[in-house]
Amino acid sequence: MKYNFDEIIDRKGTNALNTDGFREYIFHASPSMKFPYADDEFIRMWVADMEFATPPEVIQAIKERADKRIFGYTKVFDPEYYLTFCAWTQHYYNWTFPREHLVTSPGIIPALYELVEYICKPDEKILIVTPSYAYFKYAAERHNIELVCSDLVQEDGYYTIDYDDFEAKAKDEKVSLCIFCNPHNPTGRVWSEAELKKVGQICLKNNLWIISDEIHCDLLRGGRVHTPLAKLFPESDRIITCMAPSKTFNMAGLMFSNVIIPNEDLRNKWKNRHYDIENPLSIAAAQAAYAHGSEWLSQLKVYLDGNFKFMQEYLALHLPKAVFRISEATYLAWVNVGAYVTNDVDLPLYFANHAGVLLEGGNMFVANSDGYIRLNLACPRVTLAEGLKRICDLLNKGD
Ligand SMILES: Cc1ncc(COP(=O)(O)O)c(C=O)c1O
Repeated sequence: MKYNFDEIIDRKGTNALNTDGFREYIFHASPSMKFPYADDEFIRMWVADMEFATPPEVIQAIKERADKRIFGYTKVFDPEYYLTFCAWTQHYYNWTFPREHLVTSPGIIPALYELVEYICKPDEKILIVTPSYAYFKYAAERHNIELVCSDLVQEDGYYTIDYDDFEAKAKDEKVSLCIFCNPHNPTGRVWSEAELKKVGQICLKNNLWIISDEIHCDLLRGGRVHTPLAKLFPESDRIITCMAPSKTFNMAGLMFSNVIIPNEDLRNKWKNRHYDIENPLSIAAAQAAYAHGSEWLSQLKVYLDGNFKFMQEYLALHLPKAVFRISEATYLAWVNVGAYVTNDVDLPLYFANHAGVLLEGGNMFVANSDGYIRLNLACPRVTLAEGLKRICDLLNKGD
């Protein structure tokens, strides 16, 4: 391997949400909240960033841009960024889009917040499938829009869409937008073309807009292929695609993402109201990631595949009643530990206090997630091994 994913990198002193922000984010608590573990004793398997260094090619590009010494107001003027990103989408998804459809945003979350405002009228509703990434719900809440949830169906850890329920909810005249996660956080599903076609057809037939959040689309298990939802509906302009180098290359803090808006009116609304200055270091980093990050990404995927396999074997041996299936995408594992804990247990608090592991779980995923924990596997294997040992020891002991 050219890149070392076993390296343990000290994140102290970097203002990382991962190390310094867990009290506030997971526990809605102040910095004074106490645990039986010191902060640096925790195994951190929560927020979706990685313990791996951003590719050296990206860091080099940031340094080269820094060497130009002036950091004045910056936007993506140079067509090279579009061309580089399009070459990426062509290579990986056999899909491209016209340059004018692309806008950039400091993140997918801010883009969701804006798009909901531009798309939904106050009395309308947003449809999502659950369990869900919580910010889909927050995007609705921010604008006082009612959220409608369609529970995914789970069998043996494999999640599918309940189309009858989804369609019944999409038919509600007040539902005007579906925010759909493709591939899906937290279940890790890579939706097939057939599944995506059904979802798209139901939404479009019922005049819904769709925001397809594809932020995890590069992080697939070996052999899997991602299909952009918009690729399947080239005749529709009501599907907005969100992609980013942030998850793929561990650069969420650089705050740069792609939003592809084919509808001209919506795009004009965005352009009129979005504050579109970007960080010059982020532009350089994103372009370098798409231009030079392929080899790093393929090695990362091999390492993550190994972590998932390690986890599967470990759980089979040490936690046989857990329901777990290797995620088809993302570096997030979604595990039902309901056989070991009762539903009233606050899972993140339980594991923080009794195992020294920071993780997300239960109602942090909106609905249909009781008894589930989500573990971030984007860490060196020794860290993963220690995290799993602590989790399994606790559950077997039944504190
Ligand atoms: C589905 C999904 N969308 C969006 C985000 C965050 O996007 P950003 O950091 O670009 O705001 C995450 C992060 O975990 C995510 O899982």
